[in-house]
Amino acid sequence: MHLAKQLFNLEDARLVNAYDVNINSCDDCKVCHHHPRCKHTDDMDSIYRMISEATTLIIVTPVYFGAFTDRLLRIINRLQMAFERKHTHQKPLAKLTHLHIVSTAGVNKEGMFDGVKLTGRILATLFDATHHHCFTFGGTDGIKDPSAHFKSLIRKYLTKLSI
Ligand SMILES: Cc1cc2nc3c(=O)[nH]c(=O)nc-3n(C[C@H](O)[C@H](O)[C@H](O)COP(=O)(O)O)c2cc1C
Repeated sequence: MHLAKQLFNLEDARLVNAYDVNINSCDDCKVCHHHPRCKHTDDMDSIYRMISEATTLIIVTPVYFGAFTDRLLRIINRLQMAFERKHTHQKPLAKLTHLHIVSTAGVNKEGMFDGVKLTGRILATLFDATHHHCFTFGGTDGIKDPSAHFKSLIRKYLTKLSI
């Protein structure tokens, strides 16, 4: 989040911390295949609403074992309902213009973000986002001041965002 705030003005953003919400796991029950809704009633209801009202979605995650954190993946898996709404029911949940990922990893290897990037592309396609980018920050272990350490990378990313 510290790095995401360097890239985006999040003052008016609606923030969801994946560790503060109660989300049931998707278990592929197929309810959303037959009806354009999810069987669960939980904090995902407000996340669905937020996404349906949004034009931009920014997902911020550290890399855990080459992927999103399990709490964030639990939210993302529940977007299977959005997939069924779009492809089976022709009632898309949302249409976004921008979908961005901001991700950090302990290792300084771009390949460490492959899983996060693939999921990002799947989500950008799901929501028809025309602007999609994955902003990666590798080699975070032992860094005391991320803003100073990633200063030139942040500047490069800000230039990319302004184009
Ligand atoms: C459970 C767990 C799994 C991790 N897996 C990886 C990994 O696969 N690759 C990697 O480069 N770093 C991995 N890390 C390191 C984190 O990605 C890295 O420290 C990250 O910058 C932490 O971000 P944060 O300070 O926002 O929590 C892992 C850390 C934890 C706690």
